[in-house]
Amino acid sequence: MAKVLLLTAHPQLEHSRVNLALMTAARQVPDGTVAVRDLYALYPDYLIDVAAEQAALAEAQLVVWQHPLHWYGMPPLLKLWLDEVFAFGWAYGPGGNALRGKDLWLVVSTGGSAEAYHPSGHNRHFIDAFWPPCEQTAALAGMRFLPPLVLHGAHQVSDAEVAAHAALFVARLQQYPDWPELDELPVCPGCEVPMADRPPELLAQQAMLSGGQP
Ligand SMILES: Cc1cc2nc3c(=O)[nH]c(=O)nc-3n(C[C@H](O)[C@H](O)[C@H](O)COP(=O)(O)O)c2cc1C
Repeated sequence: MAKVLLLTAHPQLEHSRVNLALMTAARQVPDGTVAVRDLYALYPDYLIDVAAEQAALAEAQLVVWQHPLHWYGMPPLLKLWLDEVFAFGWAYGPGGNALRGKDLWLVVSTGGSAEAYHPSGHNRHFIDAFWPPCEQTAALAGMRFLPPLVLHGAHQVSDAEVAAHAALFVARLQQYPDWPELDELPVCPGCEVPMADRPPELLAQQAMLSGGQP
């Protein structure tokens, strides 16, 4: 059984150096421990099979979002995947416990160099400043947010550096969950959403599904 689910999202994988190398390397991990889902290949029409995605997530202990940084965030199909797959009553909200206790790991490449991700660089912030939306998404779903793996300067790095990065990535996938730093990570914070903050129609839908009155 695959304990690692790798979700790759690159809108133009045919032009990719880094993400294509990472995905290709992950596909070669033996023993079926890593299930690779190339979202743009699976859903060129953006019609996501939510049930299939949720089933794949249910099997995994480590969920990996692997993508190039696009406008300081994730590419659009991965965002749509998140909107649809992390559903109310499944990933969060009443009865939404499907992802609780799993780990989320971001594996990201950037066009900007490491120096550009600095208060004195043109991106004006350290790269860590761009993680909180994903970190809080993980927390709301009861997932532990692992320290992201980043390759900066994706267009400048040498082929040898790309290959070394892919080798590191695959080694981490194969070693999971035996990562030394995991012992020191805090447990996922609790994030109880007050009922009053829920959209009324979602609460009514939930009540119907659980046999109650809307
Ligand atoms: C639409 C778009 C938005 C991008 N936004 C960013 C960005 O916000 N920060 C950055 O450092 N690089 C940005 N880039 C550059 C990509 O991150 C870079 O091309 C990618 O990491 C290279 O990986 P690849 O070899 O797998 O294509 C952007 C590229 C595109 C096409």
